[in-house]
Amino acid sequence: MSLPQGVEMSHIILERFLSPGDRALDATCGNGHDTAFLARQVGSQGRVLAIDIQEEAVKNTRRRLEEEGLAERAVVIRGDHSRLLKLVQTQSALQTGESSGKSEEKSGEIKPGKIEVKSGESKSNKPEGEPGKIKAEGSEEESGETKPNKPENKLEETEAEKIKSGKIEKELEETEAGKLKEKAEETEVRELKGKVEEAEVGELKGKAEEAEAGELKEKPEEADAGKLKEEKKETGTEADRLLKFQAVVFNLGFLPGSAKEIITTAKTTLPALEQSRQLLDAGGVIVIVSYTGHQGGERECRQLLDWAGGLDYQGYNVLHHRFINQPTDPPQLIAVEKR
Ligand SMILES: C[S@@+](CC[C@H](N)C(=O)[O-])C[C@H]1O[C@@H](n2cnc3c(N)ncnc32)[C@H](O)[C@@H]1O
Repeated sequence: MSLPQGVEMSHIILERFLSPGDRALDATCGNGHDTAFLARQVGSQGRVLAIDIQEEAVKNTRRRLEEEGLAERAVVIRGDHSRLLKLVQTQSALQTGESSGKSEEKSGEIKPGKIEVKSGESKSNKPEGEPGKIKAEGSEEESGETKPNKPENKLEETEAEKIKSGKIEKELEETEAGKLKEKAEETEVRELKGKVEEAEVGELKGKAEEAEAGELKEKPEEADAGKLKEEKKETGTEADRLLKFQAVVFNLGFLPGSAKEIITTAKTTLPALEQSRQLLDAGGVIVIVSYTGHQGGERECRQLLDWAGGLDYQGYNVLHHRFINQPTDPPQLIAVEKR
């Protein structure tokens, strides 16, 4: 028996807060250990949204989920967690559209358990791309221009350079905007088609009733309006539910096994945490595991402690867990419970 360290402690806390059917968010999915843990906690009816800024992390997490038979419970996307709200809203919009009957294959959406397939790629054995190369939808892969096994061009920017210069954010934003626009257009067409069909059915039904009863019991337009209102209400409820999480986890630092070029910093972690507060259900928890051993880690940890320590005690309970007599720098944990 030993005292729990950062990650172990984070799982002990998360386990207390999560139940089957819940929704959890992994804001730095890395190699997918935490995502898989969350997926086990929420069960087959629950859902996990996992985010990482690196393509490699997204692939590793998807692979782990597949291997552990948990892929159906999680959606893994590439993105910067400083834009968490936007990323979650996009996913919510995609999912509510999806549940209203649109085919996944047609939309190209990322569904739980589905490995994203770009046009021009086959689902089977094809390698997923050159290491370090950005392969967002709408890029050259999308346009059909294939560059199989092209040797890495030294002049091309690396993923880390793109992330640092902010280019990656723009690329990701454009991808999202495109997807949403397409979705909105398809939804509009579907809604209009549905309305026309309903109106036709309603009219016929109304006429039959009129003929039978000799009087107009219910105006078709009123029936339609009622039905549409009811449908809207249902979609609204589902959309609201998709914007709330019972737990959010931040396991900070760099991707284990990577070149450590991409490391979390308070510049993006703090806005991500602020947005997590908005996404957190009452009674939910944000768990942060912060490493101080690498360059910049100590500073990030201090800034996060300042943020967490400043939260209003009437709205939040905040816990700080750390070892205080170790020669090394064991990870520290901050947990924020929304009351
Ligand atoms: C310590 S690792 C996470 C480990 C992971 N939770 C696991 O279970 O394997 C930290 C991760 O944060 C990611 N990261 C860094 N900056 C980010 C950002 N702005 N948005 C999202 N993820 C980021 C890194 O790419 C890295 O994969």
